[in-house]
Amino acid sequence: MAKYAAITGWGMAVPERVLTNADLELMVQTSDEWIVSRTGIRERRIVGPDECTSTLATEAGRRALALAGVAPTAVDLVILATCTPDRPFPATACTVQANLGIPAVGAFDLAAACSGFVYGLSVATSMIQSGAARTVLFLAADVFSRSYIDWNDRATCVLFGDGAGAIVLQASDEPHGMLSCDLGASGADEALMVVEAGGVRMPLTPELLAQGKQHFVMQGREVFKLAVRGMAESSLRAVERAGLELDDIALVVPHQANLRIIEAAAKRLEVPIERFLINLDRYGNTSAATIPIGLVEAAEQGRLIAGDYVLVTAFGGGLTWGSAVIRWGS
Ligand code: ACO
Repeated sequence: MAKYAAITGWGMAVPERVLTNADLELMVQTSDEWIVSRTGIRERRIVGPDECTSTLATEAGRRALALAGVAPTAVDLVILATCTPDRPFPATACTVQANLGIPAVGAFDLAAACSGFVYGLSVATSMIQSGAARTVLFLAADVFSRSYIDWNDRATCVLFGDGAGAIVLQASDEPHGMLSCDLGASGADEALMVVEAGGVRMPLTPELLAQGKQHFVMQGREVFKLAVRGMAESSLRAVERAGLELDDIALVVPHQANLRIIEAAAKRLEVPIERFLINLDRYGNTSAATIPIGLVEAAEQGRLIAGDYVLVTAFGGGLTWGSAVIRWGS
């Protein structure tokens, strides 16, 4: 059985359509100044009529497989982290599997909101370490613009963008891939970030739709504080479990919700902000996709090279949080 699950390919996909802060100024009572100073976001990508979660994930997956040099027929498990599936049923991972021509292997969705990448990375790695799979295509994709966003609510509509990232994990005897992780959740705080209606507890009715219960609501200030603490403490646990020090970490790729959250977490960890990957100015919060998109850009920019230790850390709905230390390359 393989001891490690090396990351041998990576890819991302974002819609072409750019929605800038200036565009939002025409839609709700907000300003570029407010959005940039409170969040760091300048623009985000929004799906067009022919795009959805599966199309973005498929494109990201295609690129990751190509980079890894892995044929779709060699994949033996597909996992998609998303909280915005194409449809309530069946799993969007099955659509991606079919789109990519992957044979009849296991395929399932995993829901952990913005922490989906870290949760999914740990599951994909464990499947390889247990011997259940040798090659896993792990995707993370979310499309908030067409699901949970209330385009009349300035407090939330400025924050999110659509996107997808994917990685290929392959069994390896060399110490590459995820070396340690820390996962956590606090269901008692679920109401701090929630979409109330649309599931079986509260099926959508015309009345609930009129009340906007299909939309995402968040206690922003409370979540802000918990996110800073949650990501910092979880990061420390993951680094310790890897037997490393923070100084060993070449790059931190945090969930991209708010620049101020990242800066506060960096300060708490006493890690210079220059060692953090930040791209939320261009994409906003793409939920589960922020970390793989960040990894792809870091690799393309030469900020991550084989052998580097990279720390990923996320916080999101659930509440959920998680961090992992990855040794890059194969
Ligand atoms: N433009 C202008 N004014 C605005 C806007 C806007 N887009 N949005 C809110 N305001 C106003 C508010 O109405 C409020 O006005 P008031 O003082 O007159 O009442 C004022 O700005 C301040 O609002 P706050 O919500 O207190 O602003 P804050 O500085 O906390 O920033 C934000 C809000 C950006 C949402 C921040 O709280 C945040 O980032 N929270 C965490 C988000 C997060 O991490 N989410 C986790 C991931 S999401 C997931 O898992 C799906």
